[in-house]
Amino acid sequence: MRYGVIGTGWIAKSFIDGARMLCDAEFSAVYSRTAESGNKFASENKIANVFTDIEKFAKSDFDAVYIASPNRLHFEQSKLMLQNGKHVICEKPITVEPEELAELQALAKQNGLIYIEAIMYMFNPARDLLKNAIKKIGRITSVHFDFSQLSSKYPAYLAGSLPNIFNPALATGCLMDLGVYCVYPALDLFGLPQKITACAHFMESGADGSGNAAFLYPDKLVNLTYSKLGQDRLGSQIFGDEGTIVIESISKLINMKLIDNKGEITEIIGDVAKEIIMGYEAEAFEKFIKNPDDPYYQTVCERALQVSKAMKEIRNLSGIKFK
Ligand SMILES: NC(=O)c1ccc[n+]([C@@H]2O[C@H](COP(=O)([O-])OP(=O)(O)OC[C@H]3O[C@@H](n4cnc5c(N)ncnc54)[C@H](OP(=O)(O)O)[C@@H]3O)[C@@H](O)[C@H]2O)c1
Repeated sequence: MRYGVIGTGWIAKSFIDGARMLCDAEFSAVYSRTAESGNKFASENKIANVFTDIEKFAKSDFDAVYIASPNRLHFEQSKLMLQNGKHVICEKPITVEPEELAELQALAKQNGLIYIEAIMYMFNPARDLLKNAIKKIGRITSVHFDFSQLSSKYPAYLAGSLPNIFNPALATGCLMDLGVYCVYPALDLFGLPQKITACAHFMESGADGSGNAAFLYPDKLVNLTYSKLGQDRLGSQIFGDEGTIVIESISKLINMKLIDNKGEITEIIGDVAKEIIMGYEAEAFEKFIKNPDDPYYQTVCERALQVSKAMKEIRNLSGIKFK
């Protein structure tokens, strides 16, 4: 399958490496705003064609596109690609508004195209391992999912510049960047909550630097915490009355273990390279393109919409606004 790529950041390189490792993926074109950045990325990643005009890129000859641009651009770029007959795998969060996602899901369906969010959780085989492990810890009453990662862009922000990730005009910030990784497993493992509460801490730029949400269910409380201004060292935990599951990384589902009430530890999964986990996304994408009736494609689309709606509710409750 021939891919085009939008965005020339480090994450695009990780996706390309993963897709090349796990799939029969050929990367034939890249779109960048500048020839300089496009040429550099193309030569580093062995991509033949560079475009600085997105309309020409959309009309060029490849089957599918991987989009890794700032969040605010996901909707219009995905729409343009779907209108030009390209299958789309777009970085998280797939759109800013759930209404935009519903519109593009309908457009993809109408055009016979696959349109998915590049969210590691949904395509990671460790998701099934986690689901099985959950059955072994008894009754679950409390859950804490955390994704707190000190941003490499924070020093630049403190020095007076405005990196994209802290610029609300690009629909970025902590919930959109990291919180989404906590919302996905919460909804996927436990379903829709009865009630959501949430709040956020804001930076001077107006971006949310950290925040939390609580999902209330009849039998449990699921707490989500996320920060770009501090580094988590403890991971996420699912508390059952017969044991606890500890997850080092909620985004990658790596280094997961089950600790029973006697303190006995069973490893669920160890470390896995991020490129491989992104390769699983590419693998599923290709599988859906070959078989659009794959029932898991429906699950992926439905879950993406549920997550997008929950993210919107958390934003409203927390007062997160994009300019
Ligand atoms: N799956 C993951 O683990 C993961 C990790 C990181 C990021 N992401 C997601 O990937 C996406 C990109 O994140 P990122 O941190 O790479 O973003 P970024 O560095 O801010 O931008 C990505 C690329 O978009 C272009 N770009 C930058 N600013 C732009 C602007 N103002 N207008 C138009 N284009 C612009 C740049 O390419 P050109 O200069 O070549 O045009 C840049 O390389 C986000 O949606 C993010 O959530 C996912």
